[in-house]
Amino acid sequence: MTIRILGFLFLLFFLHEDSSAHFLPKRSIDLIAAHSLIVDSRLPREIAPNSYSVDLHPFPEEGHFKGHVQINITWHEPTDKITLHVHEDLKISHSEIKIIQFAPDDEKLKLLISHKPTEIKILRSEVVPKKPFYIIYLEKELKIGAQCSVDISFSGKLYNDTSEGLFRSNYINTITGEKKWFIASQLRPNLARKVFPCFDEPAYKATFKVSVVRSKTMHALANMPLKKSEELPNDSKWVRDYFIESPPMSTFAFGILVSDFVSIHINNTGDENDLETNISIWARPDFLSAVENSSEKIYTSVKALEKFWDFKFPLPKLDCVALPNFQGTRPADNWGLIFFKESELSGKRSWKITHELVYQWLGALATPFWWSDAHINNALARYVTSYVTLKISDGKETFHNWPMTMLYSIYYEFSKRYPHGKVMAIKQDSSSTKTELVFRMLNYTIGEDTFIRGLQRFIFDRQFRTFFSDDVWSCITQQARIDRVLEESITANEIAGSWIAKDRLPVLNVIRSEDGTSAAITQRVYLRERPHDVPDQEKLLWWIPIVLIRQDHLNFSNSIPVMWMRRQREVTISDLPPSNKFIIVNPEEIGPFPVNYDTNNWKLLAEYLQSDEKNKIPVNTRAKLLHDAWNLAYAGDLNFSTALDMTRFLKSEREYLAWDAVFTMIDHIGRHIDGSNVHKKFLMYVRMLLTPLYEELGDEAQEGENEGKTNLRMSSKVFLCQAGYKPCIEEAQMAFNKWIESENPDEGNPVANQYICPVFKWGSIEEWEFGLQRVVNFPLSRKQSERTYLLKTLAGCPVDSWKIEKILNITILEQNGNFTDNDIYLIFSMLTGSSSGYTTLFNYLSKNWNALKKAFENKPQLWNSLITSSTSVFKTQEGLDKVTKLYKERQQDFGTAEFVITKALKNIKEEAKWSNDNLPVIENWLDNYLRLQNNGTRTEESKFL
Ligand SMILES: *[C@@H]1O[C@H](CO)[C@@H](O)[C@H](O)[C@H]1NC(C)=O
Ligand SMILES: *[C@@H]1O[C@H](CO)[C@@H](O)[C@H](O)[C@H]1NC(C)=O
Ligand SMILES: *[C@@H]1O[C@H](CO)[C@@H](O)[C@H](O)[C@H]1NC(C)=O
Ligand SMILES: *[C@@H]1O[C@H](CO)[C@@H](O)[C@H](O)[C@H]1NC(C)=O
Ligand SMILES: *[C@@H]1O[C@H](CO)[C@@H](O)[C@H](O)[C@H]1NC(C)=O
Repeated sequence: MTIRILGFLFLLFFLHEDSSAHFLPKRSIDLIAAHSLIVDSRLPREIAPNSYSVDLHPFPEEGHFKGHVQINITWHEPTDKITLHVHEDLKISHSEIKIIQFAPDDEKLKLLISHKPTEIKILRSEVVPKKPFYIIYLEKELKIGAQCSVDISFSGKLYNDTSEGLFRSNYINTITGEKKWFIASQLRPNLARKVFPCFDEPAYKATFKVSVVRSKTMHALANMPLKKSEELPNDSKWVRDYFIESPPMSTFAFGILVSDFVSIHINNTGDENDLETNISIWARPDFLSAVENSSEKIYTSVKALEKFWDFKFPLPKLDCVALPNFQGTRPADNWGLIFFKESELSGKRSWKITHELVYQWLGALATPFWWSDAHINNALARYVTSYVTLKISDGKETFHNWPMTMLYSIYYEFSKRYPHGKVMAIKQDSSSTKTELVFRMLNYTIGEDTFIRGLQRFIFDRQFRTFFSDDVWSCITQQARIDRVLEESITANEIAGSWIAKDRLPVLNVIRSEDGTSAAITQRVYLRERPHDVPDQEKLLWWIPIVLIRQDHLNFSNSIPVMWMRRQREVTISDLPPSNKFIIVNPEEIGPFPVNYDTNNWKLLAEYLQSDEKNKIPVNTRAKLLHDAWNLAYAGDLNFSTALDMTRFLKSEREYLAWDAVFTMIDHIGRHIDGSNVHKKFLMYVRMLLTPLYEELGDEAQEGENEGKTNLRMSSKVFLCQAGYKPCIEEAQMAFNKWIESENPDEGNPVANQYICPVFKWGSIEEWEFGLQRVVNFPLSRKQSERTYLLKTLAGCPVDSWKIEKILNITILEQNGNFTDNDIYLIFSMLTGSSSGYTTLFNYLSKNWNALKKAFENKPQLWNSLITSSTSVFKTQEGLDKVTKLYKERQQDFGTAEFVITKALKNIKEEAKWSNDNLPVIENWLDNYLRLQNNGTRTEESKFL
């Protein structure tokens, strides 16, 4: 929640062109997705492993381990070498390799006599320079069908600075004060080669017999249950634990733990669907009680997943471990032995836990052939996690209003002129989100039963094996054929392909005929930012399901499309209701695309939403209609008065899901018209919408109220505060005053972040200067992120040009040594967030041209940044005139920023055109609205500064 609100504040005030990144659900970018970028040295395909027998003996205190592996290999092509993955940290002593051939390579011989194992001579073996390969050259070539076992002894180091490979760490027992060591492993994506020589690619699945040597006071765990333990001969300190042989698995799923942790066993409840697998939760003794609560979550999730996949948990046991100091960005999902961060296992929510459990089937049981196929695995895992979480929490766990928040984020991302900029991580994440939404779309359009049976078919088919992306879609297609929900000519592969292959989304335009009974539907690429001159637009076409709701028959439970647009530019549908009844296409955001209508249909929708019957349209569809209307208007594709009419129903709307998108839109539009005359009226309108809402919700959360209500209160409060709502500002100033009065204000900041911006915006010069002084004096010993936050708000929040000029004077012209170049960048970028910010910066630049030019003489980057921030965000004709004038006056003098300013002028022209077209329409609408509501207004307005 804190994250949400912070993200929200951030969005409001600190982000300009890139707000969408902050709408992404706050998950770490899944490592799995990043793995698809892996460029690894692939092994030759001639031989493949059948089984491993791995023995490891770690020495936790000394920081190293030794081990032995026996790999049983089959020849699939004739060759005289064995190539294995071995990391340079793993040491092999050449004298300790042995190769025994136990199956002959001559098929005829195999039938006649039983082959006597013979040792094969090794000519030589070598580490390949700069590649993670170890090659063993044999004295002769073996033919197809030959089988050998390779025995290798090795030693390696226990990593202690990362949680990767085989690593050691420790914790302090709080009762005895003792330092306790433990050893754990994390081999995803290709770190098994740091632990034992192997075929370290997901496609080489083999069975594993594991044994681990541990001290008597410790306990060992591996992927499978313990089989037996033996004391080492001549040394009573050590015990060797043997584990049962695993089913075929990939090397990355291998895991061990040696520790003195304690456990809780999760007991079955005794009903007929009891689990057949033994589940335990492990933690250090002091922490066990903190993770007790997770047992029910794990039990429930595993059961729900068994039902979902129609496939029992694939191993006889599952250990979930809360690992102290675990540094992985996501849990280590070893098969049957998952390592979580302590906080993840003790947390309140279950999404993350379920997410890891999903990978026990999807990833461990059925495994992507190569990391490039992990993309789909990842998206499907997220879909299944969300499905199961919604199911078991009965809709109570909302995790970012799945899928709306992430849907909006990709709407913003993919409609940019340049999606994702150059940020690969964002690209990965939004592609994965898109694929997840394609799964969701298929679920709706072929029906949940068929969809789930298709996935069950897939898991059943690929169990203990690997798969390619296409296998998933093929299984869904097969099931859909059997259930007769897809025509023979349609495949899920083709549908999905049309969505996955592009970094774009479509928009539909639905224009009904005069009498309403038919409609022409066209698709084109959805672009929101101007200009819309994206190349190759005419080539982009999608498979789009037309799911239709009609006013004279409001049935939201049927989500089967009336037709598919088969990469057709335009189709016609008929049998629609007469022109006085609306239709809705793509309700519930079934497919990830917005829909535009003719004016009359929008008008019918707006009227209906203001009637008492509005709740017959489910909240996600209400939100969609609103979101689509505003964003289409923002893009220039819909008249603004139509879009504003769609907001009228908000007066009586109390559901968070409907409001959620509104805050972003108010911010986007507000920013766009900031500084114009219309802006004041717009703010007045926003206040009239929000004040009654907020006052009805009350200041304080009530006991047991739902999360949505809490979020709605928070969001509306943040907005009202920014709009100058007095009660809120007084509260903020009171909180801020505590800081001013504290004895040593530089020791720490007692003010909650949410109060800082309102104080810097609406508060006194003294309050603002107090803040500035805190940045100047900020001690190195405190968290620098707090300093950054202060600096951002000091520059980004004020509307008073004096404050802005002051901070520019200090940091640039007076060259105060407490500010770095990075601080100056930050200030510039913050100033682009409001028209008072960039207008003041522009005036400052015009007034102090020579001094600034001199100050940045040797800092072309900063100079460019100054020119960009002070010019490129103007949005009106007036702004265009100002910037043009400056450009003419200083034409010879922009230096490195010449390119920046010409680009800025081009953008402003585009935006000024938008403003010319839209501002009068918006103003006119607001004037009418405000006139009609005039009576209520005066009382409301008195509550604002
Ligand atoms: C090697 O693998 C083959 C095929 O899985 C199996 O038949 C054979 O028994 C294994 N041999 C050893 C020594 O593990
Ligand atoms: C990690 O191990 C290395 C070598 O084994 C050792 O020099 C270093 O001090 C260790 N670091 C920590 C934090 O234990
Ligand atoms: C499971 O049952 C055992 C034996 O009856 C009991 O000691 C243990 O506390 C139970 N575990 C949980 C998590 O309830
Ligand atoms: C899947 O589709 C059905 C309609 O067939 C719908 O009721 C259900 O909510 C969908 N599930 C998810 C997780 O979107
Ligand atoms: C900024 O510096 C200029 C030139 O020294 C001065 O005229 C102006 O008053 C200063 N502004 C503020 C707000 O301190």
